[in-house]
Amino acid sequence: MTLPCAELHLHLEGTLEPETIFALAERNRVTLPYADVADLARRYDFTDLQSFLDLYYANMATLRTAEDFADMTTAYLARAAAGGVRHAEVFLDPQAHLDRGIALETVLEGVSTALASSEREHGVSTGLLIAFLRDLDAEYALRTLDRILALGTPILGIGLDSAEVGHPPSKFAAVYDRARAEGLHCVAHAGEEGPPSYIWEALDVLRVERVDHGVRCLEDDRLVDRLVAERIPLTVCPLSNVRLRVVPDLAAHPLREMLRRGLHVTVNSDDPAYFGGYLDDNVGATARALDLTPADLRELAENSIEASFLDRTRKNDLL
Ligand code: HPA
Ligand code: ZN
Repeated sequence: MTLPCAELHLHLEGTLEPETIFALAERNRVTLPYADVADLARRYDFTDLQSFLDLYYANMATLRTAEDFADMTTAYLARAAAGGVRHAEVFLDPQAHLDRGIALETVLEGVSTALASSEREHGVSTGLLIAFLRDLDAEYALRTLDRILALGTPILGIGLDSAEVGHPPSKFAAVYDRARAEGLHCVAHAGEEGPPSYIWEALDVLRVERVDHGVRCLEDDRLVDRLVAERIPLTVCPLSNVRLRVVPDLAAHPLREMLRRGLHVTVNSDDPAYFGGYLDDNVGATARALDLTPADLRELAENSIEASFLDRTRKNDLL
């Protein structure tokens, strides 16, 4: 997209390209269970969210040092800038690295160093969203949040990701209460594979300001009415939805219907290295598949900036 826009749903670990995974493996002497880059790329054929998560977590084994985390973050920011992104609020999964024996300090140092120089180097302002793995217990999320707060790393807010079904938002009520008390912004993945009731819970129990994905809201008219009335942004990821089989193909994607119903929709890339494209690729492919008009594209770009957690002055600069 050439229009200035914000990316609000992006997992940093989902930006590791197959070539980068091989380069990091060599740098860190990690043995990969793939013959070569083509062999790895052939495995990017997912049947659902879990089949993707299995590969996504396995490939994190190549991330070892602060430099690795910084390089991954910088590569994303450079690519995003080339696609018109002027502001990025990015997710990081610290628990996935803690569980592999990587120190929290290492992860945060690498990522936050790269984010801090982004506006100068790439013209992209940034914010860090700490995502908690919803298939792990809430006490572990709370402990991790407390440790991150104690380290003093600048963070913008928190989110909830990983395997959705069977892990409703309400499980994390205490984590969100704590984050809010600390002045952090609150978002959560809901309604990707999970039912509309998970979106209600994210709104009512976690009191989120945005819903990540949220496409299954269309199964519940009362929920759509509420999302429209309260102007809750939905960070939709069309190529992700196709690759994880949330929708059969892009032509069947509900994005245009969501816009027409007045939902505050934004387009994002989720895990661009795994799902076939960055934000501009998502917008381009969706615009072609759904015949989006120039006015639709302008609305999507403006929505992304309005839905960000930027202050009014910077929003006005970007609009
Ligand atoms: N959904 C849930 N968890 C995730 C995703 C996603 O799209 N990407 C990375 N973790
Ligand atoms: Zn996501």
